[in-house]
Amino acid sequence: MLALGIESSCDETAAAVVENGAKVLSNVIASQHDIHARFGGVVPELASRRHVENMPVVVTEALERAGVTMGDIDLFAVTRGPGLVGALLVGLSFAKGAAWALKKPLVPVHHLHGHIVAAGFNHALRYPHLCLLVSGGHTSLFRVDSPVTFLELASTRDDAAGEAFDKVAKLLGLGFPGGPAVEKCAANGDARAVKFTMPKVKGSALDFSFSGLKTATRLALEKKPKAEDVAASFQKTVADILVQRTLFAAKEQKLDYIVMAGGVACNGHLRREMKRAGDVNGLTVVWPEPVYCTDNAAMIAAAGYFMYAAEPTSPRWMDYLSLDAVANLPLSLSS
Ligand code: KG4
Ligand code: ZN
Repeated sequence: MLALGIESSCDETAAAVVENGAKVLSNVIASQHDIHARFGGVVPELASRRHVENMPVVVTEALERAGVTMGDIDLFAVTRGPGLVGALLVGLSFAKGAAWALKKPLVPVHHLHGHIVAAGFNHALRYPHLCLLVSGGHTSLFRVDSPVTFLELASTRDDAAGEAFDKVAKLLGLGFPGGPAVEKCAANGDARAVKFTMPKVKGSALDFSFSGLKTATRLALEKKPKAEDVAASFQKTVADILVQRTLFAAKEQKLDYIVMAGGVACNGHLRREMKRAGDVNGLTVVWPEPVYCTDNAAMIAAAGYFMYAAEPTSPRWMDYLSLDAVANLPLSLSS
């Protein structure tokens, strides 16, 4: 079964053709980093306009690279939320139009569901497992029992990990997006040079908090340390927090298979530290290749396929014309 996935929740216009939720035939991403970089962050109205221009081009290229035509597509899958509402609407409207014209099913997908299944392109995932999702908008731990069944165990109380990387990059005068820039800068720094304390989160021991670390970084900069040392110390502290909470959740849930997902899962230091902690504690740790960590449409096509395959006769896949984009779509509405 061929699914065409469409993603436009933030600043990437993406389309992909995926067979049976597993084999990526094409994965096209038009990034808008160039237009947002000079503002130091994503400008929603500019993102929506660029999506309108890019979407038909990206979809056509995804079909061409896969060697198929629109008529060969069995299923459309599109991100319904969460994200920027104007940006989401572009993808959703495009998908509705295509599905309607071809009389094919359309599956609305929760963006995080896409991230959760993304490692499946590179690994035969074991279930149940623990998923650490670390992106620009979200930082959460999920217990994942199947490709369509997952439970959020913890989330961030304030900033997401990627957001903290982006804000610290801004403080250090590095580029946008901040994560890769901080990682590059940190490569030449001493991670013990600046001391940051681990945040204590009241309530659930699993929840995350990064806004205090961001403020501590700002204060540390007043003493004029080397930017490389600040970047390395900050990156180490973020990784320490993520590894600590992940190990705690794995133990609590009795899970020995860890999947990392989201843009921050590209970070080399985090990968090494999580792998090392996994080796010490007898846990398997896997992650998607970088192109499936950051936003892409292949993961949306796969999540949509899994939802459809779980309920192939459900009438809701043909009942999509009144669907709205939802900026803060709750996970409970996603399956
Ligand atoms: O998953 P993603 O593409 O978009 C969201 O759904 O948010 O994640 C983007 C985030 C950005 O905050 C970016 O700075 C961060 O992932 N990121 C990284 C790295 N590459 C991307 N953070 C740390 N290290 C990296 N190498
Ligand atoms: Zn994302």
